[in-house]
Order: sequence, then structure tokens, then C-alpha cells
Amino acid sequence: MTSLDEAKIRARYEAAGQGHVFRYFEELSSNEKDVLLQQLHDIQVEKLASLLEAARTDSLSNDHTQTITPFSKHVGRTTDPNVVQSAYSRGIEALSQGQVAALVLAGGQGTRLGFDGPKGCYDIGLPSGKTLFQLLSERLCKLKCLTSDASIPFYIMTSPINHQETVDYFQQHEYFGLSKDDVLFFQQGMLPCLTEDDGKIIMETPSTVAMAPDGNGGIYPSLQQSGMMDDMIQRGIHYLHVFSIDNALTKIADPTFVGYCIQQNADCGNKVVWKVGPHEKVGVIAEKDGTPCVVEYSEISTEMAERVDDQGRLVFGAGNICNHFYTIDFLRDKVMPNLGTLYHIARKKIPYWDESTRQTVTPETNNGIKLESFIFDIFPFAERMAILDTERDEEFSPVKNAPGSDTDSPDTARQHLSQQAQKWVIAAGGTLTGNRDSGICEISPLTSYGGEGLDELVKGKTIECPFNL
Ligand code: UTP
Repeated sequence: MTSLDEAKIRARYEAAGQGHVFRYFEELSSNEKDVLLQQLHDIQVEKLASLLEAARTDSLSNDHTQTITPFSKHVGRTTDPNVVQSAYSRGIEALSQGQVAALVLAGGQGTRLGFDGPKGCYDIGLPSGKTLFQLLSERLCKLKCLTSDASIPFYIMTSPINHQETVDYFQQHEYFGLSKDDVLFFQQGMLPCLTEDDGKIIMETPSTVAMAPDGNGGIYPSLQQSGMMDDMIQRGIHYLHVFSIDNALTKIADPTFVGYCIQQNADCGNKVVWKVGPHEKVGVIAEKDGTPCVVEYSEISTEMAERVDDQGRLVFGAGNICNHFYTIDFLRDKVMPNLGTLYHIARKKIPYWDESTRQTVTPETNNGIKLESFIFDIFPFAERMAILDTERDEEFSPVKNAPGSDTDSPDTARQHLSQQAQKWVIAAGGTLTGNRDSGICEISPLTSYGGEGLDELVKGKTIECPFNL
């Protein structure tokens, strides 16, 4: 039997105009009552109305009165060797001093991929069978070798939907060679789903509220509530590199990106890849009323999307790939105090309890809303935003769609990793033989983080494809 005070919880929900969540309470078994009370206890029902109101204001303010202009500051490019060399050295220095941490956003549901588990545990079909989590962890192991075995804490944001499975997975694989103390898990929040008209909490069953993760912008409140911000401060971390789980080419704690942002004295940074064409459906870094932000492709006109500069580059081309840099000071002083204002309304098909048929129904059309925020919603708080334009074939291959899809799938990620491995061998002075397309070539992240250190293995040698180094 739960020790939670039913009367107190009821009073909170009544006061917030959400007393209907107790409608079926008397019919529930004692176990079900406990489950519901725990869930209700954990929801900050008092805050819902103001979050919803802020989200509604946000929807209204998307009224296109803001002027969208291209990002007006300097954009660094990794095609410039001067930028890369000095940024890389600066990044390695900060890493070696234990000032940098990495954080992966792994709380999503991965519905498009159709994999029933945390996306990071997904085996993308490489000959080695390595999953997205393993690739990241091994790259981090290698980076530690390049930085005199510095501590580079790895924070993993999960959600209640996949938390335990993620933690178990790392335990079972002994953290892929990382120190257990440097792998830290925390959960993003969940928020109740609401009816659109009157903002009432939707019940999925008589004893459960319909809940949904609060979007990847949930990183900010959960960093604070989980104590991970304090953990970073205690460890002496100054800089944080954050990225999504689904990019198979992510350079975790990337020295070049981190170093570039430090050199620019940036409080916030965004790594981008330039759009392949004007109509690629990706958000871009731009400015609204002079403030940096991500603008969705649907927000700009065809003329704007197609506009090019005098060198023929797309003006609105800085494609956002969910790969960000922050100083800890910026997170603590600018982001954390402004969290309540960040939510957006997402209209969704939300499974609900149908009183007449007494079962949970998944509707065919949208019947309610989720409150979500995006990680880039805080860009407008940045005073010194740095943008680093990187090469797509080195940096970006997302695994979003199910196997067999033409784009952004495990198949395309395998191909990109294989092409990258071939390119690295050639750059290190090796010669490839055999059919390059006959199979998948792999270079273990434990062998090379970013193409370095391959000379001994391949220089002056002929390597038969497919290879595994
Ligand atoms: P996506 O927006 O691609 O969502 O997430 P998803 O859940 O992975 O996939 P779909 O849309 O259901 O198919 C981009 C990144 O943000 C993380 C994801 O794990 C991914 O790394 N994310 C997304 C969260 O951490 N929490 C969320 O609530 C949503």
C-alpha cells in the first residue's frame, strides 16, 4: 500500500481543474490505485496551465511577423585547414584538462525506425555488429587515448520509456571500455497529454494518465532536476558537447568543434552541414529579428530557400544536425532561469480511455496535444553563437528511417561508414584493391577516432576491400 496522501493529491488536482483524473478511482484495485497515485504525485500539475498558456502564445506568435534573415556572423568551415588545425589543438587542450563532457540525447521513441528498444542499442548491420551506442563509446575510448587518458564524462539522456533498458545495456557490455564512473544516465521528463480545447489531462486507462516525453528540449530541465548540472560543475567541466543518438558518424566530444567554439569565445555553438539542395527538408540556422535560431524549412519561402550568394552557395543553407556546444556558464545563467517559456504544441493521436466501450482507443485523427520543446529553442538566449560548417560525408549520416528506406536509414549509414573508412585508408597512404562496393569496410573507432593514426597500418600497403581494421 502506498504511503502517498490521496487526499492531498486529490486537492492538488482539484485546485488545478484536473480533478477528473480521479473519475474511476473507486473502481480500481488497490495496486492500480497505488500506480495512479504515484503517477499523479510525480506530475507537476500546478505548472500545467502556465506551460500550456505559454505554448499557446508561442503558436500564436508564429504569425510570421518576425523577420527572417540569414545568420549574419562569421561561419567557420572545416574545409579551411587553418581553422581545423588550430581548433583541433585547442579542443585537445581543453579535453586533456578535463574540461569537456559529452551528452547524447537518447530519450526519443524512434518510431520511424520501428525498432522496439532504445535506438542506441540498434545494430545498423555492420560486419562488426556494433550498435550506435558502441560506436560512440568506442570513439570516446579512443579520444581518451589522444588526450592523455583525460576524464571525459559521457552523459546519456534517456526517457522513462527506455531508461532501464539503456542502463542494463551498458552494464551488460561493461560500458564498452569506458570507466563506469564516467558514464552517467539521467531521464528526461514526461508531461501529460492534454485535450486541445480545455487543456484537460487525457486518461489512457482508468489508472494511467497518457504521458509523452517532453521533446529533446527536455534536456534542460532534466539536467537540472537530475543533479547532472551540479555533477558537471563539481567535475570542473566548462564545455558540453550535445548530439543526437541517431547520427552514425558523430564525432563525440569533437575536439575541432569544441576548440573552434572556445576560440570564438562562444557561449553556444552549432555544428551544421550545408544543405545539398534548396529543398532538402532540414531546419537551418538563421536569425529572427536579428536573433539566432533554427528556422524550419516550412517557415521560409521558396525564393528564400533558393537564394544563393555570389559564390553560388545557398544563403539559408546551414542545415541543423542536432549537434551543439554550450559553456556550462551559459546553461546555468541563461538557459536554466528561462525554462518555463519553451514549450510548443504538437497535435497528436493520443490513446485514450473510451468510457462507452471500456477500452483504450487509438484514434485515427489527432485528438489531443503534447507539450514539447526542442533543444535549439534556447539559441535566442545566446549572446555569442558560433557556427561551424562541416563536411557531410565525415560528420552526418542519420539513422531515422526503417531498413530499406532510400534515405537516412541503417543501410545508408553503413554505406557512409564504409566510404569514410575507404577515404581514411587512401588519405593515410594506402591503396585499395578489390570491389569497393562489394561489402562494408570498417575501421574500428578503437583504431582511429577521425582518420588519425592509420599510417603504420596502411601506408604504402595495398588493402583489399572489404576490410576491417
Ligand atoms: P527525433 O526527433 O528524430 O525523434 O529525435 P526520435 O524519437 O528519435 O524518432 P521518431 O521521430 O520517433 O522517428 C532527435 C534526437 O532527439 C532525441 C532522440 O533520441 C534523437 O537523438 N529525443 C527526441 C529525445 O532525447 N527525447 C525526445 O523526447 C525526443
